[in-house]
Amino acid sequence: MASDKESSRISGFYKMPVEKRISITSEKAALTTEEERLLGSGGGLGIEEADRMIENVIGTIAYPLGIAANFRINGKDRLVPMAIEEPSVVAAASNMARLMRGDEGIRVTSTDPVMIGQIQVLDIPDIENAMKNIIEAKAELLELANQQDPVLVRFGGGARDIQHRIIQTEAGEMLILHLLVDCRDAMGANTVNTMCETLAPVVNELTGGRVLLRIISNLADKRLVRAECFVKSEDLGGEKIVDDVVAAWAFANADPYRAATHNKGIMNGVVAVALAVAQDHRALEAGAHAYAARDGHYSSLSKWSKDDNGDLVGVLEMPMAVGIVGGVTRTHPTARLALKVMGVSKAAELAEIMAAVGLAQNLGALRALVSEGIQHGHMRLHARNLVVMAGAEGDLIGKAVEALVESGEIRFDKAQEIVKRLKG
Ligand code: MEV
Repeated sequence: MASDKESSRISGFYKMPVEKRISITSEKAALTTEEERLLGSGGGLGIEEADRMIENVIGTIAYPLGIAANFRINGKDRLVPMAIEEPSVVAAASNMARLMRGDEGIRVTSTDPVMIGQIQVLDIPDIENAMKNIIEAKAELLELANQQDPVLVRFGGGARDIQHRIIQTEAGEMLILHLLVDCRDAMGANTVNTMCETLAPVVNELTGGRVLLRIISNLADKRLVRAECFVKSEDLGGEKIVDDVVAAWAFANADPYRAATHNKGIMNGVVAVALAVAQDHRALEAGAHAYAARDGHYSSLSKWSKDDNGDLVGVLEMPMAVGIVGGVTRTHPTARLALKVMGVSKAAELAEIMAAVGLAQNLGALRALVSEGIQHGHMRLHARNLVVMAGAEGDLIGKAVEALVESGEIRFDKAQEIVKRLKG
Protein backbone atom coordinates (compact mmCIF):
# COMPACT_ATOMS: atom_id res chain seq x y z
CA MET A 1 0.00 0.00 0.00
CA ALA A 2 1.37 3.41 -0.95
CA SER A 3 2.05 5.77 1.96
CA ASP A 4 0.18 9.09 1.95
CA LYS A 5 3.22 10.83 0.52
CA GLU A 6 3.57 8.26 -2.27
CA SER A 7 -0.13 7.98 -3.04
CA SER A 8 -1.41 9.44 -6.31
CA ARG A 9 -4.95 9.41 -4.92
CA ILE A 10 -5.64 13.10 -4.31
CA SER A 11 -9.24 13.82 -3.66
CA GLY A 12 -10.55 17.20 -4.90
CA PHE A 13 -7.28 18.05 -6.71
CA TYR A 14 -9.29 19.78 -9.45
CA LYS A 15 -10.93 22.13 -6.95
CA MET A 16 -7.65 23.37 -5.47
CA PRO A 17 -5.97 26.64 -6.50
CA VAL A 18 -2.95 26.22 -8.82
CA GLU A 19 -0.46 27.10 -6.03
CA LYS A 20 -1.81 24.31 -3.83
CA ARG A 21 -1.61 21.80 -6.69
CA ILE A 22 2.00 22.84 -7.31
CA SER A 23 2.92 22.45 -3.64
CA ILE A 24 1.29 18.99 -3.41
CA THR A 25 3.07 17.85 -6.59
CA SER A 26 6.30 19.31 -5.29
CA GLU A 27 5.99 17.49 -1.98
CA LYS A 28 5.10 14.14 -3.53
CA ALA A 29 7.84 14.31 -6.18
CA ALA A 30 10.43 15.91 -3.83
CA LEU A 31 11.00 18.83 -6.21
CA THR A 32 13.62 21.48 -5.45
CA THR A 33 12.56 25.11 -4.88
CA GLU A 34 13.90 25.94 -8.33
CA GLU A 35 11.87 23.16 -9.95
CA GLU A 36 8.79 24.28 -8.08
CA ARG A 37 9.31 27.84 -9.35
CA LEU A 38 9.69 26.53 -12.91
CA LEU A 39 6.22 24.95 -12.72
CA GLY A 40 4.47 28.22 -12.03
CA SER A 41 6.51 30.21 -14.52
CA GLY A 42 4.62 29.37 -17.74
CA GLY A 43 6.69 27.34 -20.18
CA GLY A 44 10.09 26.58 -18.77
CA LEU A 45 11.95 26.79 -22.08
CA GLY A 46 14.34 29.72 -22.49
CA ILE A 47 14.77 31.29 -25.91
CA GLU A 48 18.45 30.23 -26.07
CA GLU A 49 17.50 26.60 -25.36
CA ALA A 50 14.78 26.79 -28.02
CA ASP A 51 17.24 28.28 -30.49
CA ARG A 52 19.51 25.27 -30.00
CA MET A 53 16.65 22.82 -30.65
CA ILE A 54 15.36 23.83 -34.08
CA GLU A 55 16.07 26.34 -36.84
CA ASN A 56 14.78 29.90 -37.40
CA VAL A 57 13.49 30.28 -33.83
CA ILE A 58 11.46 33.38 -33.03
CA GLY A 59 9.83 32.31 -29.76
CA THR A 60 8.24 29.50 -27.79
CA ILE A 61 4.62 28.42 -27.29
CA ALA A 62 3.35 27.18 -23.94
CA TYR A 63 0.70 24.49 -23.34
CA PRO A 64 -1.22 23.89 -20.11
CA LEU A 65 0.51 21.21 -18.04
CA GLY A 66 -1.87 19.26 -15.79
CA ILE A 67 -1.46 16.35 -13.41
CA ALA A 68 -3.54 13.23 -13.87
CA ALA A 69 -4.07 11.92 -10.34
CA ASN A 70 -5.09 8.48 -9.03
CA PHE A 71 -2.95 6.28 -11.30
CA ARG A 72 -1.77 3.02 -9.81
CA ILE A 73 0.28 1.02 -12.29
CA ASN A 74 1.74 -2.40 -11.46
CA GLY A 75 1.15 -1.63 -7.80
CA LYS A 76 2.97 1.72 -7.87
CA ASP A 77 1.24 5.07 -7.55
CA ARG A 78 2.19 7.66 -10.16
CA LEU A 79 1.37 11.31 -10.69
CA VAL A 80 1.20 11.74 -14.45
CA PRO A 81 1.95 15.11 -16.09
CA MET A 82 -0.06 15.79 -19.25
CA ALA A 83 0.39 18.71 -21.67
CA ILE A 84 -2.72 19.33 -23.75
CA GLU A 85 -4.91 22.18 -24.97
CA GLU A 86 -8.19 20.20 -24.88
CA PRO A 87 -10.46 20.41 -21.81
CA SER A 88 -11.78 17.29 -20.02
CA VAL A 89 -8.87 15.01 -21.01
CA VAL A 90 -6.92 15.28 -17.73
CA ALA A 91 -10.14 15.04 -15.69
CA ALA A 92 -11.30 11.95 -17.61
CA ALA A 93 -7.92 10.19 -17.19
CA SER A 94 -7.91 10.93 -13.44
CA ASN A 95 -11.51 9.76 -12.97
CA MET A 96 -11.01 6.51 -14.82
CA ALA A 97 -7.67 5.85 -13.10
CA ARG A 98 -9.57 6.06 -9.80
CA LEU A 99 -11.87 3.23 -10.90
CA MET A 100 -8.88 1.11 -11.99
CA ARG A 101 -6.94 1.22 -8.72
CA GLY A 102 -8.07 -2.20 -7.40
CA ASP A 103 -5.33 -4.75 -6.55
CA GLU A 104 -2.19 -3.72 -8.42
CA GLY A 105 -4.10 -1.14 -10.47
CA ILE A 106 -3.46 -1.08 -14.22
CA ARG A 107 -1.16 -3.98 -15.16
CA VAL A 108 1.46 -3.19 -17.79
CA THR A 109 4.17 -5.12 -19.62
CA SER A 110 6.44 -4.32 -22.52
CA THR A 111 8.73 -6.10 -24.98
CA ASP A 112 12.42 -5.33 -25.33
CA PRO A 113 12.87 -1.82 -26.82
CA VAL A 114 13.70 -3.04 -30.33
CA MET A 115 13.42 -0.61 -33.24
CA ILE A 116 13.58 -1.44 -36.94
CA GLY A 117 15.86 0.33 -39.43
CA GLN A 118 15.00 -0.20 -43.11
CA ILE A 119 17.49 -0.45 -45.96
CA GLN A 120 15.90 -0.41 -49.42
CA VAL A 121 17.93 -2.17 -52.15
CA LEU A 122 17.11 -1.75 -55.85
CA ASP A 123 18.48 -3.08 -59.15
CA ILE A 124 19.77 -6.39 -57.77
CA PRO A 125 20.93 -8.70 -60.59
CA ASP A 126 20.43 -11.96 -58.64
CA ILE A 127 18.18 -11.59 -55.60
CA GLU A 128 18.67 -15.18 -54.30
CA ASN A 129 22.43 -14.70 -54.33
CA ALA A 130 22.11 -11.24 -52.75
CA MET A 131 20.12 -12.66 -49.83
CA LYS A 132 22.59 -15.53 -49.39
CA ASN A 133 25.47 -13.03 -49.22
CA ILE A 134 23.63 -10.90 -46.65
CA ILE A 135 22.87 -13.94 -44.46
CA GLU A 136 26.51 -15.09 -44.62
CA ALA A 137 27.79 -11.61 -43.73
CA LYS A 138 25.22 -11.02 -40.97
CA ALA A 139 27.67 -11.20 -38.07
CA GLU A 140 30.06 -8.68 -39.68
CA LEU A 141 27.18 -6.35 -40.57
CA LEU A 142 25.92 -6.41 -36.98
CA GLU A 143 29.44 -5.81 -35.69
CA LEU A 144 29.85 -2.83 -38.02
CA ALA A 145 26.47 -1.45 -36.91
CA ASN A 146 27.41 -1.83 -33.24
CA GLN A 147 30.70 0.02 -33.74
CA GLN A 148 28.55 3.12 -34.40
CA ASP A 149 27.24 3.22 -30.83
CA PRO A 150 29.59 1.66 -28.28
CA VAL A 151 27.74 3.39 -25.42
CA LEU A 152 24.47 1.69 -26.36
CA VAL A 153 26.30 -1.65 -26.55
CA ARG A 154 27.87 -1.01 -23.12
CA PHE A 155 24.39 -0.48 -21.68
CA GLY A 156 23.23 -3.84 -23.05
CA GLY A 157 21.64 -2.64 -26.31
CA GLY A 158 22.77 -2.72 -29.92
CA ALA A 159 22.05 -4.29 -33.31
CA ARG A 160 20.52 -7.74 -32.78
CA ASP A 161 19.50 -9.13 -36.14
CA ILE A 162 19.04 -8.49 -39.84
CA GLN A 163 15.90 -9.74 -41.53
CA HIS A 164 14.96 -9.49 -45.18
CA ARG A 165 11.79 -9.13 -47.19
CA ILE A 166 11.24 -9.05 -50.93
CA ILE A 167 8.43 -6.71 -51.95
CA GLN A 168 6.76 -6.09 -55.29
CA THR A 169 6.16 -2.39 -55.95
CA GLU A 170 5.15 -0.08 -58.77
CA ALA A 171 8.87 0.60 -59.24
CA GLY A 172 9.66 -3.12 -59.49
CA GLU A 173 10.95 -5.78 -57.10
CA MET A 174 12.93 -4.62 -54.07
CA LEU A 175 14.93 -6.23 -51.33
CA ILE A 176 14.19 -4.61 -47.97
CA LEU A 177 16.54 -5.30 -45.10
CA HIS A 178 15.36 -4.77 -41.53
CA LEU A 179 18.08 -3.99 -39.02
CA LEU A 180 16.75 -4.79 -35.53
CA VAL A 181 18.29 -2.62 -32.83
CA ASP A 182 17.71 -2.83 -29.09
CA CYS A 183 17.67 0.87 -28.17
CA ARG A 184 17.44 0.43 -24.35
CA ASP A 185 16.52 3.84 -22.88
CA ALA A 186 16.83 5.83 -26.10
CA MET A 187 14.05 6.35 -28.63
CA GLY A 188 16.74 5.31 -31.07
CA ALA A 189 16.09 7.21 -34.31
CA ASN A 190 19.58 8.73 -34.46
CA THR A 191 21.37 5.49 -33.66
CA VAL A 192 19.29 3.37 -36.03
CA ASN A 193 19.62 5.85 -38.90
CA THR A 194 23.39 6.11 -38.41
CA MET A 195 23.72 2.33 -38.36
CA CYS A 196 21.67 1.94 -41.55
CA GLU A 197 23.64 4.64 -43.35
CA THR A 198 26.91 2.99 -42.31
CA LEU A 199 25.83 -0.42 -43.62
CA ALA A 200 24.70 0.92 -47.02
CA PRO A 201 28.02 0.71 -48.95
CA VAL A 202 28.64 -2.84 -47.67
CA VAL A 203 25.10 -3.85 -48.66
CA ASN A 204 25.74 -2.38 -52.14
CA GLU A 205 28.77 -4.64 -52.48
CA LEU A 206 27.12 -7.76 -51.08
CA THR A 207 24.00 -7.48 -53.24
CA GLY A 208 25.43 -5.92 -56.41
CA GLY A 209 22.42 -3.61 -56.18
CA ARG A 210 21.86 0.00 -55.14
CA VAL A 211 20.80 1.07 -51.66
CA LEU A 212 18.34 3.95 -51.74
CA LEU A 213 16.58 4.70 -48.42
CA ARG A 214 18.22 4.03 -45.06
CA ILE A 215 15.82 5.06 -42.30
CA ILE A 216 14.05 3.96 -39.13
CA SER A 217 10.50 2.55 -39.41
CA ASN A 218 7.90 4.21 -37.22
CA LEU A 219 5.84 1.02 -37.29
CA ALA A 220 7.65 -0.06 -34.12
CA ASP A 221 5.93 -3.43 -33.87
CA LYS A 222 8.86 -4.97 -32.02
CA ARG A 223 8.65 -2.35 -29.28
CA LEU A 224 5.20 -3.02 -27.91
CA VAL A 225 3.52 -2.18 -24.66
CA ARG A 226 0.42 -3.76 -23.18
CA ALA A 227 -1.88 -2.34 -20.48
CA GLU A 228 -4.76 -4.22 -18.87
CA CYS A 229 -7.38 -2.98 -16.47
CA PHE A 230 -10.37 -4.17 -14.56
CA VAL A 231 -13.32 -2.01 -13.52
CA LYS A 232 -16.15 -3.19 -11.29
CA SER A 233 -19.51 -2.73 -12.98
CA GLU A 234 -20.98 -0.90 -9.97
CA ASP A 235 -18.10 1.61 -10.05
CA LEU A 236 -18.86 2.32 -13.68
CA GLY A 237 -22.59 2.79 -13.12
CA GLY A 238 -23.93 -0.74 -13.60
CA GLU A 239 -23.87 -3.65 -16.01
CA LYS A 240 -25.81 -1.75 -18.67
CA ILE A 241 -22.89 0.71 -18.97
CA VAL A 242 -20.45 -2.22 -19.19
CA ASP A 243 -22.51 -3.69 -22.07
CA ASP A 244 -22.69 -0.32 -23.80
CA VAL A 245 -18.93 0.25 -23.50
CA VAL A 246 -18.35 -3.18 -25.07
CA ALA A 247 -20.81 -2.31 -27.86
CA ALA A 248 -19.06 1.03 -28.43
CA TRP A 249 -15.73 -0.81 -28.70
CA ALA A 250 -17.22 -3.38 -31.13
CA PHE A 251 -18.34 -0.48 -33.34
CA ALA A 252 -14.76 0.85 -33.45
CA ASN A 253 -13.31 -2.57 -34.06
CA ALA A 254 -15.58 -3.11 -37.06
CA ASP A 255 -15.64 0.36 -38.61
CA PRO A 256 -12.59 2.45 -39.59
CA TYR A 257 -14.56 5.72 -39.42
CA ARG A 258 -15.29 5.10 -35.75
CA ALA A 259 -11.89 3.44 -35.08
CA ALA A 260 -10.06 6.62 -36.12
CA THR A 261 -11.96 8.63 -33.48
CA HIS A 262 -11.75 5.86 -30.86
CA ASN A 263 -7.97 5.65 -31.33
CA LYS A 264 -7.75 9.46 -31.32
CA GLY A 265 -9.21 9.29 -27.81
CA ILE A 266 -6.45 6.86 -26.79
CA MET A 267 -3.86 9.18 -28.34
CA ASN A 268 -5.31 12.13 -26.37
CA GLY A 269 -3.77 10.46 -23.33
CA VAL A 270 -0.63 9.05 -24.95
CA VAL A 271 0.34 12.26 -26.74
CA ALA A 272 -0.42 14.49 -23.75
CA VAL A 273 2.11 12.55 -21.66
CA ALA A 274 4.49 12.46 -24.65
CA LEU A 275 4.34 16.25 -24.93
CA ALA A 276 4.90 16.73 -21.20
CA VAL A 277 8.19 14.81 -21.49
CA ALA A 278 9.12 16.15 -24.96
CA GLN A 279 8.86 12.90 -26.93
CA ASP A 280 8.53 12.64 -30.70
CA HIS A 281 4.74 12.40 -30.68
CA ARG A 282 4.53 12.30 -34.49
CA ALA A 283 6.47 9.04 -34.40
CA LEU A 284 4.08 7.69 -31.76
CA GLU A 285 1.00 8.68 -33.78
CA ALA A 286 2.43 7.15 -36.96
CA GLY A 287 3.29 3.91 -35.17
CA ALA A 288 -0.06 3.65 -33.42
CA HIS A 289 -2.20 4.10 -36.53
CA ALA A 290 -0.03 1.83 -38.69
CA TYR A 291 -0.24 -0.84 -35.97
CA ALA A 292 -4.03 -0.43 -35.85
CA ALA A 293 -4.08 -1.33 -39.56
CA ARG A 294 -1.49 -4.12 -39.39
CA ASP A 295 -3.80 -6.85 -40.67
CA GLY A 296 -5.03 -4.75 -43.58
CA HIS A 297 -8.12 -3.45 -41.78
CA TYR A 298 -7.85 -0.32 -39.62
CA SER A 299 -9.43 -1.08 -36.25
CA SER A 300 -9.34 -0.40 -32.53
CA LEU A 301 -6.04 -0.42 -30.61
CA SER A 302 -7.90 -1.46 -27.46
CA LYS A 303 -10.31 -4.25 -26.60
CA TRP A 304 -13.13 -4.06 -24.01
CA SER A 305 -15.06 -7.11 -22.77
CA LYS A 306 -17.28 -8.22 -19.91
CA ASP A 307 -16.04 -10.94 -17.57
CA ASP A 308 -18.12 -13.70 -15.95
CA ASN A 309 -19.02 -11.43 -13.02
CA GLY A 310 -20.35 -8.71 -15.31
CA ASP A 311 -17.32 -6.45 -14.72
CA LEU A 312 -15.36 -4.62 -17.41
CA VAL A 313 -11.94 -5.75 -18.66
CA GLY A 314 -9.85 -3.56 -20.94
CA VAL A 315 -6.64 -4.22 -22.86
CA LEU A 316 -4.53 -1.86 -24.94
CA GLU A 317 -1.57 -3.06 -27.01
CA MET A 318 0.39 -0.66 -29.17
CA PRO A 319 3.91 0.34 -30.22
CA MET A 320 5.51 2.88 -27.89
CA ALA A 321 8.83 4.23 -29.15
CA VAL A 322 9.92 6.57 -26.36
CA GLY A 323 13.30 7.46 -24.91
CA ILE A 324 14.65 9.19 -21.85
CA VAL A 325 18.30 9.52 -22.93
CA GLY A 326 19.87 11.21 -25.93
CA GLY A 327 16.88 13.42 -26.71
CA VAL A 328 15.21 16.65 -25.67
CA THR A 329 13.72 14.97 -22.59
CA ARG A 330 16.97 15.54 -20.70
CA THR A 331 17.59 19.08 -21.94
CA HIS A 332 14.11 20.62 -21.75
CA PRO A 333 13.78 21.81 -18.13
CA THR A 334 10.02 21.11 -17.84
CA ALA A 335 10.28 17.72 -19.56
CA ARG A 336 13.04 16.73 -17.11
CA LEU A 337 10.86 17.83 -14.25
CA ALA A 338 7.83 15.95 -15.62
CA LEU A 339 9.91 12.78 -15.75
CA LYS A 340 10.87 13.33 -12.12
CA VAL A 341 7.22 13.85 -11.12
CA MET A 342 6.35 10.49 -12.71
CA GLY A 343 9.31 8.86 -10.97
CA VAL A 344 10.53 7.32 -14.22
CA SER A 345 14.07 5.99 -14.57
CA LYS A 346 13.70 3.75 -17.64
CA ALA A 347 12.19 4.29 -21.09
CA ALA A 348 10.12 1.11 -20.67
CA GLU A 349 8.55 2.53 -17.50
CA LEU A 350 7.57 5.69 -19.39
CA ALA A 351 6.12 3.61 -22.26
CA GLU A 352 4.09 1.55 -19.79
CA ILE A 353 2.70 4.62 -18.02
CA MET A 354 1.72 6.10 -21.39
CA ALA A 355 -0.17 2.94 -22.33
CA ALA A 356 -1.96 2.96 -18.96
CA VAL A 357 -3.02 6.58 -19.56
CA GLY A 358 -4.14 5.71 -23.11
CA LEU A 359 -6.33 2.91 -21.77
CA ALA A 360 -7.86 5.08 -19.02
CA GLN A 361 -8.44 7.88 -21.53
CA ASN A 362 -10.20 5.48 -23.89
CA LEU A 363 -12.58 4.35 -21.16
CA GLY A 364 -13.20 7.97 -20.11
CA ALA A 365 -14.34 8.81 -23.65
CA LEU A 366 -16.43 5.63 -24.08
CA ARG A 367 -18.10 6.00 -20.70
CA ALA A 368 -19.08 9.58 -21.48
CA LEU A 369 -20.19 8.71 -25.02
CA VAL A 370 -22.50 5.89 -23.89
CA SER A 371 -24.08 8.07 -21.19
CA GLU A 372 -24.28 11.86 -21.03
CA GLY A 373 -22.15 12.50 -24.17
CA ILE A 374 -18.85 14.37 -24.17
CA GLN A 375 -20.17 17.90 -24.55
CA HIS A 376 -21.31 17.96 -20.92
CA GLY A 377 -17.74 18.06 -19.53
CA HIS A 378 -16.47 20.32 -22.30
CA MET A 379 -19.30 22.78 -21.77
CA ARG A 380 -18.56 23.24 -18.05
CA LEU A 381 -15.07 24.48 -18.83
CA HIS A 382 -16.41 26.51 -21.71
CA ALA A 383 -18.96 28.04 -19.32
CA ARG A 384 -16.14 28.90 -16.94
CA ASN A 385 -14.21 30.70 -19.68
CA LEU A 386 -17.35 32.59 -20.71
CA VAL A 387 -18.18 33.85 -17.22
CA VAL A 388 -14.58 34.97 -16.65
CA MET A 389 -14.68 36.79 -20.00
CA ALA A 390 -17.95 38.35 -18.88
CA GLY A 391 -16.21 39.82 -15.82
CA ALA A 392 -16.80 37.23 -13.06
CA GLU A 393 -14.07 37.07 -10.39
CA GLY A 394 -13.33 35.10 -7.19
CA ASP A 395 -16.31 33.30 -5.61
CA LEU A 396 -18.65 34.65 -8.24
CA ILE A 397 -17.04 32.44 -10.91
CA GLY A 398 -18.38 29.17 -9.45
CA LYS A 399 -21.86 30.63 -8.90
CA ALA A 400 -22.00 32.06 -12.42
CA VAL A 401 -20.84 28.74 -13.93
CA GLU A 402 -23.59 26.88 -12.08
CA ALA A 403 -26.21 29.35 -13.24
CA LEU A 404 -24.97 29.30 -16.84
CA VAL A 405 -24.89 25.47 -16.99
CA GLU A 406 -28.32 25.36 -15.36
CA SER A 407 -29.71 27.74 -17.97
CA GLY A 408 -28.79 25.26 -20.71
CA GLU A 409 -27.74 28.20 -22.93
CA ILE A 410 -23.96 28.26 -22.73
CA ARG A 411 -23.35 31.45 -24.73
CA PHE A 412 -21.48 34.67 -24.10
CA ASP A 413 -24.59 36.91 -24.07
CA LYS A 414 -26.17 34.63 -21.44
CA ALA A 415 -22.93 34.65 -19.40
CA GLN A 416 -22.94 38.48 -19.46
CA GLU A 417 -26.57 38.57 -18.32
CA ILE A 418 -25.88 36.14 -15.42
CA VAL A 419 -22.71 37.87 -14.27
CA LYS A 420 -24.45 41.25 -14.33
CA ARG A 421 -27.35 39.84 -12.29
CA LEU A 422 -25.06 38.15 -9.74
CA LYS A 423 -22.95 41.29 -9.29
CA GLY A 424 -26.19 42.97 -8.32
C1 MEV B 1 -12.19 13.77 -28.35
O1 MEV B 1 -10.96 14.44 -28.27
C2 MEV B 1 -11.95 12.26 -28.24
C3 MEV B 1 -13.19 11.41 -28.44
O2 MEV B 1 -13.83 11.76 -29.67
C4 MEV B 1 -12.76 9.96 -28.43
C5 MEV B 1 -13.86 8.99 -28.79
O3 MEV B 1 -14.79 9.37 -29.52
O4 MEV B 1 -13.73 7.82 -28.36
C6 MEV B 1 -14.23 11.67 -27.35
